[in-house]
Amino acid sequence: MVRPGWRALVTALGVTFTCPAATNPSVSNSQSFRNATGIMQTYSMSGPLELTGPFFQPLGTNGRSCASCHRADQGWALSAEGVKARFQATRGRDPIFRASDGANCDSHKDVSTSDGRRSAFSLLINRGLIRVALPVADHADFEVVQVENSYGCVDRKAVSVYRRPLPVTNLRFLSSVMWDGRGSSGLAGTVPIAAATNPDDLMTDLAQQARDAGRVHEASRPLTPHQVQSIVKFEISLATAQAFDDKAGALDAGGAKGGPATLATWTIPAFFVGINDPRGGDPHAIKPEDAVRLFDAWSDRPYGRVYSDVPAAIDSQSSRRASIARGQVLFNQKPFDIRGVVGLNDTLRLPSITGACGTCHNSPNAGNRSVEALMNTGTTDTEGPLDVSYLPTITLRNRHTDEVKMTTDPGLALITGHWNDIGKVKVPILRGLAARPPYFHNGSAQSLGEVIDFYNKRFHAGISAREREDLIAFLSSL
Ligand code: HEC
Ligand code: HEC
Repeated sequence: MVRPGWRALVTALGVTFTCPAATNPSVSNSQSFRNATGIMQTYSMSGPLELTGPFFQPLGTNGRSCASCHRADQGWALSAEGVKARFQATRGRDPIFRASDGANCDSHKDVSTSDGRRSAFSLLINRGLIRVALPVADHADFEVVQVENSYGCVDRKAVSVYRRPLPVTNLRFLSSVMWDGRGSSGLAGTVPIAAATNPDDLMTDLAQQARDAGRVHEASRPLTPHQVQSIVKFEISLATAQAFDDKAGALDAGGAKGGPATLATWTIPAFFVGINDPRGGDPHAIKPEDAVRLFDAWSDRPYGRVYSDVPAAIDSQSSRRASIARGQVLFNQKPFDIRGVVGLNDTLRLPSITGACGTCHNSPNAGNRSVEALMNTGTTDTEGPLDVSYLPTITLRNRHTDEVKMTTDPGLALITGHWNDIGKVKVPILRGLAARPPYFHNGSAQSLGEVIDFYNKRFHAGISAREREDLIAFLSSL
C-alpha cells in the first residue's frame, strides 16, 4: 500500500514513522487509511503513535472512549458511512449509540429493537451528528421563544443543536476550540487563544475540553490529572493529511508539499495565531488569497488564469496533478462577491468584499482562519441553498427591538448572549477532508461537491462544472 520511497523520505525528515507493515497491528492501523480518492495518513510529532492510552479507553460508565467519535480511519472525526457500517456490524449496539447525546433526542423512542435504534439514531447514522444541549448565556439580549424539533428536545433553556465531531488532529492550528468557540472563550470559563501566550492557552483549553468531554460524552467521574495530560499530549502530537491520491500518486512527489510529513515538519512549525491575517498583526502578511501553496510545483502557473494555454496533459497522472494544482489556484484566487456574512462584512465595515475561498480560510496550508473570527456564512440559516429540513428551527426574539430570527443553530450567540452572534461558527481546518464526509457543522453538505454548490449559490460565484471538478480534486488532496 505504501510506496517504498516513503519511509526513507520520512526518516530523512526526522519524523518517527512506523511502517504499516510493522508487526504491531494497532500501530499500523493508525497510520494509513483508504478513502474514496486515496490514502490518508497520520503522524505523531512526538514519537511512535501509542493507541492504548486514555484517549482509547472507556473512562466512564457508558462504554465510550474519545475514539468512539474521533476515529483514526475517519480523519479523527466521523464519516456518516463509517457510522452506518458500525451500526450494521453491531446492530446499533456499539457504545456510540447511546441515547444521551447520540440519539436525535433522548426520549420518546423505543431503542430495544434494531429498527427502533435505526430510527432513534438517524441523524448520527445519516449525517454523523451528535446532539449538544447548551444553555443560553445569562443576561442574553434575546430570548428563545420557540424550538420546533420533530424529534423532541424542545427545551428553551438548554437548546439542543446537532453538530459534527471536529477532527482531533492538526490541533496546533486552532485559533478557537469547538464550533462555537466555547472551548476558548473567557465567557465560557476557558482561555482565548492569543498569539503571545500560545500554545499555553491552547494546552489549557484542550485540558478543559478533555475533562468536559469525559463527563458529557462518556459519563465519567472527573478525569485524573494523568488522564487529562496523557490525552492532551496524544492529541496535540497528531498530524493528518491525505498522503496518496489514486491518480496523482504521492502528494509530496515532484516538489509538491502535500501529505502529513510536510505538514508535521513544515506547516505546523510555521503557524502562529494571526499568520496571514491583517487582524493578527503579521508583519509579513501575505495576501489572504494566498492561503494554500502546496501544489505550486505541479503547475506552471501558480498565479492567475488557470485555463489559458494549459498544455494537454500527457497521462492520467499529470492530468490529475494539473487538476489539483488548478483547484489550488481557484481556491486562492477565484474571485466572488462576499456579502451579508455577519462576522466578516460587518466587522470590516465592507458591505461587499471581492474575495476567494482563502479570504476566510487563510491560515497557510491549514485552511482555518488564523484568528478567532466566527461568522455566519448561511450554513445555520433555516432558508438558503442547503437542505436543513432534518434540523430543528429555533426562534429567537431580541429583548430590545422585538426583532425575531429563526435559525437551526444559534452558534456563538448561546455563549455570548449577543444578538449579532446568532448563527456564527468557526472557520474550520481543511486538512484530511476526504476521510470525513458530510461537511459543515451540521452535516448539511453530503460531499465536497455539495460544499462548492453551496458557495456557488450563496455568493453567486460562477464556479463552472470544470472548476468544480478541479476544486474537488484539490480539496480531496488536503
Ligand atoms: C459522543 C461523541 C464524542 C465523544 C465520545 C467525544 N467527542 Fe470530542 N467532539 C464531539 C463533538 C460533537 C464535537 C464538536 C462539538 C461542538 O463544537 O459543539 C467535539 C469536539 C472536540 C474537540 C474540539 C476540536 C476543535 O477543533 O475545536 C476536541 C479537542 C475533542 N472533541 C476531544 C475529545 C476528547 C479528548 C474526548 C474524550 C475525552 C472526546 N472528544 C470524546 C463528539 C465527541
Ligand atoms: C465568508 C467566509 C468563507 C468563504 C469565502 C469560504 N468559506 Fe468555507 N467555511 C467558512 C465557514 C465559517 C465554515 C464553517 C461552516 C459550517 O461548518 O457551518 C466553512 C466550511 C468549509 C468546509 C467544510 C469543512 C468541514 O470540516 O466540514 C469546506 C470544505 C470549505 N469551507 C471550503 C470552502 C471553499 C472551497 C470555498 C470557496 C469556494 C470556501 N470554503 C469559501 C467560511 C468561508
